[in-house]
Amino acid sequence: MTDPSATFLLFGATGDLAHRMIFPSLYNLLADGLLPEDFMIVASGRTEMDDEAFRADIDKALQKFLGADRYDADVATRLRAIIFYQPVEAGNAAQFRKLAKRLDGRAERGLSVYLSTPPSLFAPTAQGLAEAGLITPTTRIAMEKPIGKDLASSKEVNNGIGALFDESQIFRVDHYLGKETVQNLLALRFGNVMFEPLWNATAIDHVQITVGETVGLEGRVSYYDGVGALRDMVQNHVLQILSIIAMEPPARMDPTAVRDEKVKALRSLRPLTAETVKANSVRGQYTPGAVGGEIVTGYADELGKPSDTETFVALKAHIDNWRWQGVPFYLRTGKRMPARQSEIQIQFKPVRHSIFGRDGHGSGLEPNTLIIRLQPEEFIQLLIMSKRPGLERDVRLEEVTLDVSLTAAFAGQRRRIAYERLILDLLAGDQTLFVRRDEVEAQWTWIDSIIDGWKEAGIKPSPYAAGNWGPSSAIALIERDGASWHD
Ligand code: BG6
Repeated sequence: MTDPSATFLLFGATGDLAHRMIFPSLYNLLADGLLPEDFMIVASGRTEMDDEAFRADIDKALQKFLGADRYDADVATRLRAIIFYQPVEAGNAAQFRKLAKRLDGRAERGLSVYLSTPPSLFAPTAQGLAEAGLITPTTRIAMEKPIGKDLASSKEVNNGIGALFDESQIFRVDHYLGKETVQNLLALRFGNVMFEPLWNATAIDHVQITVGETVGLEGRVSYYDGVGALRDMVQNHVLQILSIIAMEPPARMDPTAVRDEKVKALRSLRPLTAETVKANSVRGQYTPGAVGGEIVTGYADELGKPSDTETFVALKAHIDNWRWQGVPFYLRTGKRMPARQSEIQIQFKPVRHSIFGRDGHGSGLEPNTLIIRLQPEEFIQLLIMSKRPGLERDVRLEEVTLDVSLTAAFAGQRRRIAYERLILDLLAGDQTLFVRRDEVEAQWTWIDSIIDGWKEAGIKPSPYAAGNWGPSSAIALIERDGASWHD
């Protein structure tokens, strides 16, 4: 790590992500005194406007997205004073020169560039920066997903950026890694003695990862259609969660050690084929229904035409290594689910031999379950067996819950936006919570196997009424194995 960057240069600054997440995060970092001294934010977009117009626009966004209790006019004034706006269009060398002039002399003191633009603009933007002399050994570049739409196109994106930046300067964002709860998985696994000895095929029957959303397309039709849930959510967020759950313990908490272990887990994912894809995956698309008591339209209606894009996917994945032999990982994510709920369930195996009841029957004995809720609430629950009080000679067992509410345990602490952590780490040059190129490629390799399998086997999305956990075949996917989704 080096000195923190003195300048943050944001491309795509007039976009939705910048308004909803990036500026509110910068505001919070400033409010907490976490931004470097003499810090400058240079925002850039295609729209022509001056500093004042952009600052006013950001102020409105801060009031809207921070909420009245968090918005403080003094902090907002301090933030506005360090924001500058420079219109820049990729490919316009004159505008890049103007940008360089504005940054005059600052690039040497560390520049963090953040690309919140469509990926097609990543390479041209990097090129523009290079030509304007803005890439120095202390320049860092962060990119939002999607990094490609398959392995081949992700390589193109990475080659484009890689031609101008060393991997140690590239910060690929997966905002799930900025979430406190996702980082807490590391604390749970490696900060406690009791889980790791059981964290393998000997004790674990299967793992479930669910990322459910209640929202539909939210005006993102042009991006989402043709992309779908597999590429939009599984390729990145769900596989990042999976890699943290599945990886071997890294020797230390540093970018190389952590990412080496994650990539090994990702590379051990068993590819699907045209033969196996049917039994191991389900694609769904929502039709009209009700979510949270509200009637909502179907995907095709929102889109205005029929489509083969999936808004839900469920998968049965295998990690072919020593630790996870024979342990299925059931993954599912979708739009218009009954609840916004992200959760990991670790289902343990039954005890080896039951001393209760006849062969364990009739005693109430159940295998243990660990539930890690990532959002909206944060909790960890361990379902354990307990004796039901009473004088019966045959011991009756009942499941009780060891319940740790992290929200309650850390009640005094503000829940941070994932981007606060990520921007801070970008400025500091810490890559631990960013995705390395080989991880992205391992993720796409597995995703491509599923997409190819779907194509070859002619698998199209099955309908599900909005407000359900996907098509009924998603339930069958897990119930065939004698398990069931934790809803
Ligand atoms: C984004 C996806 O990466 O993650 C969206 O493109 C999705 O489709 C979002 O809604 C979910 O993020 P979060 O933080 O709300 O769970």
